[in-house]
Amino acid sequence: MKLLVIGSGAREHALCRSLSLDPDVTALHCAPGNAGIAEVAELHQVDALDGKAVAALATKLGADLVVVGPEAPLVAGVADAVREAGIPAFGPSKEAAQLEGSKAFAKEVMAAAGVPTARSYVCTTPEEVDEALDAFGTPYVVKDDGLAAGKGVVVTGDLEKATAHANACDRVVIEEFLDGPEVSLFAITDGTTVVPLQPAQDFKRALDGDEGPNTGGMGAYSPLPWAETDLVEEVMNTVLQPTVDELRRRGTPFSGLLYAGLAITSRGVRVIEFNARFGDPETQVVLARLKTPLAGVLLAAAQGTLADFPDLRWSEDAAVTVVIASHNYPATPRTGDPIEGLDEVAAQDAPYAYVLHAGTRREGDAIVSAGGRVLSVTASGTDLARARERAYAAVDRIRLDGSHHRTDIAAKAAAGS
Ligand code: AMP
Ligand code: GLY
Repeated sequence: MKLLVIGSGAREHALCRSLSLDPDVTALHCAPGNAGIAEVAELHQVDALDGKAVAALATKLGADLVVVGPEAPLVAGVADAVREAGIPAFGPSKEAAQLEGSKAFAKEVMAAAGVPTARSYVCTTPEEVDEALDAFGTPYVVKDDGLAAGKGVVVTGDLEKATAHANACDRVVIEEFLDGPEVSLFAITDGTTVVPLQPAQDFKRALDGDEGPNTGGMGAYSPLPWAETDLVEEVMNTVLQPTVDELRRRGTPFSGLLYAGLAITSRGVRVIEFNARFGDPETQVVLARLKTPLAGVLLAAAQGTLADFPDLRWSEDAAVTVVIASHNYPATPRTGDPIEGLDEVAAQDAPYAYVLHAGTRREGDAIVSAGGRVLSVTASGTDLARARERAYAAVDRIRLDGSHHRTDIAAKAAAGS
């Protein structure tokens, strides 16, 4: 099977790494990719938001499947363009991707499907904003309606900050605050059949102890030893299957990866958000644990044959990933700094720990930073404590001037609290 993966982050590096280990994959291409992906796939230049260009590249390469990683191309209709060219695509249509592209649309689908989520108002005027903030009280939760790379949400006790963020957006969703731990649960679906993956937890704040601004994600781990054993089944029945059924009923079936961001509140599971693609950095730990070769299940989702696909097989091992971010991330990150120590990790920590690249590029013999989140250092172990130790030992070998990372990824879960 010949594959083309679209994207350039650590999520796409994790996807490409798994695909490169799949015996059914005979050729692996990625566009635009990064310096790490170049080690497992052939890179191509393409404007990832241009559906025609992606479809033309896939046709030229003779791809049997195109996997679209990030949300922006999906919302721009890139998966549709690939399918129109007669090539199976893993990823939802432009219309179904609105589940991520518009928080107001997601709320409407959830209401129609009876999916539990925070009560909310959609506001377009300062008066509506004031009323909604007043109705819910503090802490205020204010979400830009559109795509914002994980940075469009402000959760604050400060009314002025909440109002300022709301008024800076064209359309906002203001909602009730959800307490309790967060879980990311992904499901692969062909629009009818839904196959859940293993749950993971992401660390969204920039600093230890969940302090600092929201980011795209600073680390993740899986499994969740503290979660109820029937969590996946409950989310399947109350969230994932009803949402997929509702979108099919509307004539806009969702195929690809449905990501449920959940809060486990004192009143039960609630959806915080949906995404229309694999999460980053959760994918790094989920795929580290997946034993079933990846290409076949993605192709089955793209071709509508998931019902016939054998059950997924999972490793009992735990996985932890720690993101190394550039100086000043998540504000304007500094780029162009050389990254050292990657060879040392490869020599001393493989196969239990490895480095997935996000914002990196090659400059002559050097690999330099090229984005906010630069590396996702991933490790496995028989339990979370061992996986953490390995991940942080590898992190310590890497040198990137001005970089920062959290030191508490999976710490509480590993300690059993
Ligand atoms: P989102 O982009 O919707 O995932 O929001 C980013 C982060 O903001 C989430 O991971 C939560 O940590 C936080 N957040 C979003 N909505 C809520 C809510 N209703 N209550 C509490 N925290 C929230
Ligand atoms: N880890 C959060 C996201 O992928 O949106």
